[in-house]
Amino acid sequence: MDRSQSIQRQFGAAAERYATSSYHQRSPDLENMLKAVTLSGSEQVLDVGTGTGHTALAFAPQVGSVIGLDMTEAMLAQARELAVQQGASNVSFELGDAMELPYDSDRFDLVTCRVCAHHFADVQRAVAEMARVLRPEGRLLVVDTVSPEDPAEDTYLNCIELIRDPSHVRNYSVAQWMGMLEAVGLAAEYRGTWAVLLDFDEWVTRMGTPELEQSELRALFDRAPDLVRKGLGIRSGDYYGFEIPIAMVEGHKRG
Ligand SMILES: C[S@@+](CC[C@H](N)C(=O)[O-])C[C@H]1O[C@@H](n2cnc3c(N)ncnc32)[C@H](O)[C@@H]1O
Repeated sequence: MDRSQSIQRQFGAAAERYATSSYHQRSPDLENMLKAVTLSGSEQVLDVGTGTGHTALAFAPQVGSVIGLDMTEAMLAQARELAVQQGASNVSFELGDAMELPYDSDRFDLVTCRVCAHHFADVQRAVAEMARVLRPEGRLLVVDTVSPEDPAEDTYLNCIELIRDPSHVRNYSVAQWMGMLEAVGLAAEYRGTWAVLLDFDEWVTRMGTPELEQSELRALFDRAPDLVRKGLGIRSGDYYGFEIPIAMVEGHKRG
């Protein structure tokens, strides 16, 4: 199975649960993204890896139009239903690959990409594509789960993410993100990090993680060294959960 098939299999089966996921609908991410940009109301927005459309739908009332792009049709079907439920008539959802965006260069005022870049097989290529479709002076807003600067915490986080979801590639550090934006000529700005407490049961149920992998994850949580336990806010024993670091970086396309 190649990477695209792995993603479509994971998210195809999980689409309904992503549509109603409390984290995806209501985490601080969306509020922070909306606060990060000044909007005139006429912007053409592209939301890459839109999933069930939560980011696209959060921006829709404040901009001219939004296209949400994703490679998993079942996620897009849920997004279209949510758009109808919310009466959002300026949003459309299209099938496509972040690494080969089906749009002309210099088209969008704003490109958003929330909690999906850690799935991209070639993230630098996706960043180059997102920069290409931005108009000069346009902005790219990336929000993603990030790896902590401490290498042990980084290893632990990426390991548990991969066991939970085989389509996970890796979380990058903020420094790596800044480098990826600069590498395609964008002026990069770090816009902050926040932690989101993930309830273990919700986290594995949403992705359909099999029972065996759930037990492996619980064992890893139980055995986490003190430094990692503290850094990732790991809870284990009576209640399992952890605090995932989420960061926002912005790229500005020079005029
Ligand atoms: C966690 S969901 C995204 C959540 C969404 N951005 C939100 O704000 O609720 C991850 C999505 O990334 C999509 N995805 C992964 N790799 C992709 C790629 N190369 N091109 C387009 N979509 C991709 C998956 O199909 C999945 O729907």
